[in-house]
Amino acid sequence: MSALHQITTAALRCLPAETAHGLALQGLAAGFGPRERADDFPSLAQSLMGMSFANPVAVSAGFDKNALAVTGVRRLGTGFVEVGGVTPRPQPGNPRPRVFRLAEDRAAINRLGFNNDGAQAVHARLAALDMGGTPLGVNLAANGDSAEPADDFVALVERFAPVADFLTVDISCPNSSNGQVFLDPQALEGLLARLNAARDASGARPAMFGKLSPDIDDTRLAELIAVMRAAGIDAITVCNTTTERPASLQSAHAGERGGLSGAPLFEMANEMLRKVYAMTGGEVPLVGVGGIMSGADAWTKIRAGASLVQLYTGMVYEGPGLVQAIKRHLAQELERGGHANIADAVGSEHR
Ligand SMILES: Cc1cc2nc3c(=O)[nH]c(=O)nc-3n(C[C@H](O)[C@H](O)[C@H](O)COP(=O)(O)O)c2cc1C
Repeated sequence: MSALHQITTAALRCLPAETAHGLALQGLAAGFGPRERADDFPSLAQSLMGMSFANPVAVSAGFDKNALAVTGVRRLGTGFVEVGGVTPRPQPGNPRPRVFRLAEDRAAINRLGFNNDGAQAVHARLAALDMGGTPLGVNLAANGDSAEPADDFVALVERFAPVADFLTVDISCPNSSNGQVFLDPQALEGLLARLNAARDASGARPAMFGKLSPDIDDTRLAELIAVMRAAGIDAITVCNTTTERPASLQSAHAGERGGLSGAPLFEMANEMLRKVYAMTGGEVPLVGVGGIMSGADAWTKIRAGASLVQLYTGMVYEGPGLVQAIKRHLAQELERGGHANIADAVGSEHR
């Protein structure tokens, strides 16, 4: 990371977490930050679900909820983009403070509650973008006060199918009253049937991703995976934040309510990733998220079964140069291990 980026990252960490995040986004939107290519390591390129990924690294959902800094985020060198979570109507989210840094633990706790500008505003921003072939995803969520959360998801698919390459159905948010309604297998089955119908009716065919919570037991996990596979889900994102609080946490904010992300989530998320890879026989592309703080962490997820990786909290601590550092590390590991390309390394720890 350049000295300037290091200083900026350190300075932002002196501000309240949400203020710092807002400034970082504004900076990226204004053209500050790294300027890296997505395609500088040819061994990291792969074709998946009909999309071309120049590399497997992206910033995860929640970082740019309102699609305000898509071009700036791409300039970090990312291979794809996911904006959102977006709800049909704008909503303010929970009262502040609602994001907490746990510096001693290299972690964060958030209970934002899907604060966002709403589908209409986000759609207008996306429609005006030129992605230059970089896959664009929208993370979808129901409004917290919605009586029919399934209707919300249907409306979001109808609106975003024409402008997105993939849509992530987030059924795993711990911070919103409707955030985990569809962690019930029967409810999920009904929802996915409606979303598939809405997508088909739209005439566009974005891939459909499902994003899971790490806070479910193995029986429930197997049921949800079975439902997703029967519905023809294209990829599974493993995973969202956890409401668990590992005993190892040191920080004063460890007792705050909300979802924990960052380093303490890493092993938990990897264990789940391995299980989902085994349950799906490696046949469904997986997006590995949770606790990636370094290139070595991203490599662990690739080997555990992730075709793509995403990170959020790691950038808070390591700065925006982390994306490029991860790509460099992955390319080196491929060469060291004699892998021709990234696809060859996916799930390699299982073989
Ligand atoms: C402040 C914050 C807001 C988030 N908002 C969303 C969201 O809107 N939708 C979603 O699916 N995940 C959201 N996430 C979860 C992240 O996408 C990711 O799954 C999680 O933070 C674990 O990755 P990490 O350890 O690299 O941060 C959010 C995370 C944070 C820290």
